[in-house]
Amino acid sequence: MTARLLFLSLFAALLVSAAGSLAAQEANKAGEPDQIGRFLHGAPDKPTEIWLRAAGGRIYDNWWEALDRKKPEGAHPAYPKGGKRAGNSWRCVECHGWDYNGRDGLYRRGGTYFGPDRYTGIKGIRAAAGRDVGRIMAQLRAAPHGYTPDMITDEELRRVAIFVSRGQDNADRSIDRKTGNTRGDLTRGAALFDTTCAACHGFDGRVLNWGSAQEPAFIGTEANTYPHEVLHKIRNAHPGAAMVNLRAYPLKDAIDLVAYARTLPVK
Ligand code: HEC
Ligand code: HEC
Repeated sequence: MTARLLFLSLFAALLVSAAGSLAAQEANKAGEPDQIGRFLHGAPDKPTEIWLRAAGGRIYDNWWEALDRKKPEGAHPAYPKGGKRAGNSWRCVECHGWDYNGRDGLYRRGGTYFGPDRYTGIKGIRAAAGRDVGRIMAQLRAAPHGYTPDMITDEELRRVAIFVSRGQDNADRSIDRKTGNTRGDLTRGAALFDTTCAACHGFDGRVLNWGSAQEPAFIGTEANTYPHEVLHKIRNAHPGAAMVNLRAYPLKDAIDLVAYARTLPVK
């Protein structure tokens, strides 16, 4: 299929899903739950452990997008004064890192391929892996965090605590922290990409663009610039987007996908 045809058919699919969400709104009026809204921001009736870990990973990434809340105003009080990313500073990931290692990993002083502006001096969350979920929840309500139930409810806070305790991936053996070079099986990565991700992103990863026409951000762009971030998105999905995640599959599959995504066009 040409890119244009692919685009047209995706556009048709979007129209169908827009009609679907209208139908869902109608159903809402009749007291039925809006299934698409629930998939994006809510929870299944009986959440599995795997779903909870991925949902927690999306809260870690960006809780207001994941949960459909208002973004807090101003910088988080624990964010260092003069830090360059204050506008993002209520996101867990901004302080603790895409590799969960904080100042000891990707966001170390002086920077890595992620750039020096990410340094905060704050430690990572790796030491909290295996910690009691209730204790992590208490840490997130207390100083220095101060997340209120209006921002993140108890049920949602439990998800992110489960992610911290039982959902952190360690990619240190597969993605080089200094360079971002990724070791993975490209043949397996291509198979996964073409059968799964291409449904929305296209075979070359250029159907969805979250950058601009001048400076596009495609899967290839993202994977070549921020492979740890792409790994996190593959394992948990992008907050607020109707995207699949590979949390139920072996971590190696996600690594193979990141390695393959780095071979896709960046512009
Ligand atoms: C503005 C920065 C900031 C944000 C945002 C932030 N934290 Fe923290 N976090 C900290 C600081 C500072 C500490 C204390 C570190 C220390 O004791 O040296 C901490 C500690 C932790 C710890 C304990 C680490 C340990 O080794 O005991 C966990 C777990 C944690 N944070 C999880 C989260 C989660 C989950 C979120 C998002 C819901 C989050 N944090 C958001 C700054 C932040
Ligand atoms: C059902 C559709 C769908 C599928 C399947 C899908 N995605 Fe996505 N993905 C999306 C949407 C929608 C977005 C949000 C795009 C935006 O913000 O403009 C997105 C965003 C992303 C982002 C970028 C987020 C950012 O802003 O940094 C990455 C990376 C990504 N997807 C990777 C993948 C990979 C790899 C796969 C295969 C495992 C995949 N996606 C499968 C729909 C999908």
